[in-house]
Amino acid sequence: MAEFKLPSNSRITEGKKFPAPAGARNTKTFRVYRWKQEDDKNPQVDEYVIDLDECGPMVLDALIKIKNEIDPTLTFRRSCREGICGSCAMNIDGTNTLACIKGIEEVKGDVVNIYPLPHMPVIRDLVPDLDNFYAQYASIEPWMQAKTPPPPDRERLQSREDRAKIDGLYECILCACCSTSCPSYWWNGDRYLGPAVLLQAYRWIVDSRDENTGHRLDALEDPFKLYRCHTIMNCTNTCPKGLNPGKAIGEIKKLMMERKL
Ligand code: SF4
Ligand code: SF4
Ligand code: FES
Repeated sequence: MAEFKLPSNSRITEGKKFPAPAGARNTKTFRVYRWKQEDDKNPQVDEYVIDLDECGPMVLDALIKIKNEIDPTLTFRRSCREGICGSCAMNIDGTNTLACIKGIEEVKGDVVNIYPLPHMPVIRDLVPDLDNFYAQYASIEPWMQAKTPPPPDRERLQSREDRAKIDGLYECILCACCSTSCPSYWWNGDRYLGPAVLLQAYRWIVDSRDENTGHRLDALEDPFKLYRCHTIMNCTNTCPKGLNPGKAIGEIKKLMMERKL
């Protein structure tokens, strides 16, 4: 993982304030975390008052409007704007979610607080460093491993029942909302794989076409990689795709138990 500087202390100061445009009657205030590696300053929260009558319905629309029309220095990731790429994951109103599918009106009150995903090194503003997260993903070898050759005339087939076993798993977009909501991952993120990566590991463990299940389970038999999950279930509560990584982790633990009997 790259070396990252941290803010000199955790005090977040008040930043710049950008008032509503003249004549705006339907406004909402967006308070956004601002910090960059290059500066020797503490993080600050900048405040932008947006005319909702001139803005799209999602929190990402507001961020894009701020960047395009008010403050081009505001930095965040986004790509698909329809909940598929996972790049706009951030903490909105106290919950990790995807800015592109979070409606502005879903946030009650006059203020929308926006922070980067918690407990990750911040590169700039709402952009966390995900190198460790992706390295952990690579460590579970997220591809099919089969020893028997495929049939010569067609792809490897699955029964409908076996195919159904990866429902609720293959839909994961690796946004990291779950892992960065997990207290165990906050404290041991260097050694505990976290809910997103464990859900992905289970996706390959239960795939009937994969023939390396023993090796996959052996690799997770470790006091930190798997067993730091304490079933707090923040992960499942926050997943913007409605998946259940806590259950997937429970299923891996069950398989670990069964093979010891
Ligand atoms: S399980 Fe959900 S929250 Fe976690 S990475 Fe996948 S899509 Fe994101
Ligand atoms: S269930 Fe496990 S992975 Fe999910 S938040 Fe709790 S400790 Fe973390
Ligand atoms: S922009 Fe792709 S998930 Fe939000």
